[in-house]
Amino acid sequence: MRKTIIAGNWKMYKNIVEAIELSNGLKRELFKLDFAAVDVVICPPFTALSEVAEVLNESDIGLGAQDMYWQDEGAFTGEVSAPMLKEAGCGYVIIGHSERRQFFGETNETVNKKLKAALGHGLTPIVCVGENLKEREANKTFEVIEDHIKNSLLDISAEDLLKTVIAYEPVWAIGTGKTATGEQAQEVHKYIRDLLRKIYDDTVADSVRIQYGGSVKPENIAELIAKPDVDGALVGGASLKIDSFTQIVTKASEVKK
Ligand code: 13P
Repeated sequence: MRKTIIAGNWKMYKNIVEAIELSNGLKRELFKLDFAAVDVVICPPFTALSEVAEVLNESDIGLGAQDMYWQDEGAFTGEVSAPMLKEAGCGYVIIGHSERRQFFGETNETVNKKLKAALGHGLTPIVCVGENLKEREANKTFEVIEDHIKNSLLDISAEDLLKTVIAYEPVWAIGTGKTATGEQAQEVHKYIRDLLRKIYDDTVADSVRIQYGGSVKPENIAELIAKPDVDGALVGGASLKIDSFTQIVTKASEVKK
């Protein structure tokens, strides 16, 4: 049985004051719910991590970062390492988000290095994969997904993969309001699971959690999460408001009960 995981990726939104306000609000609202069946994670910008960690103290909400570097320390101006994230209170880290692949030169190779470092330090990685519109229209979705999965997960043991979360985020659905339909998401999630079955085994394939991301909202979460291979959501815009993120968590836990 795979536990549903709903994560909020705040991207480059919320200063420290706003982040404290939002995390406090989420803590308050989610406390009223019985969301024990769902893992809930929020991923604020680096600058707000420590403060949000304090807010989340003694709550069941997990804390994640949006990226990291693979070295522990060194002359790498602007980078943040896994031990630094752990010290700030993180249990999770998003790796290989499409915006990093698109704007900051992230490749499968760097994703793979970051993934190994995150696992080595006991962080739960959320590894993102997904095709862009051009690739989807050229019928290359599965090809791109295969490339992302095989190369991002290169040399990751079955034991480590069981600790990893995969997020399928079709680039054409991110921030566009254009969500994949439940069928479109299920088709790719199943493809990823079958690929893991080939690379690893049934246990890994049946245990690894695969989230969907791309314009997830309170209005569409139920349809997406009802699909057998959709184990959660990575939410951007709708994770920035107490009300919409709480509704997403509520609806996801109702469907997966
Ligand atoms: P939106 O939910 O804003 O489309 O963003 C999705 C995403 O990129 C989450 O990582």
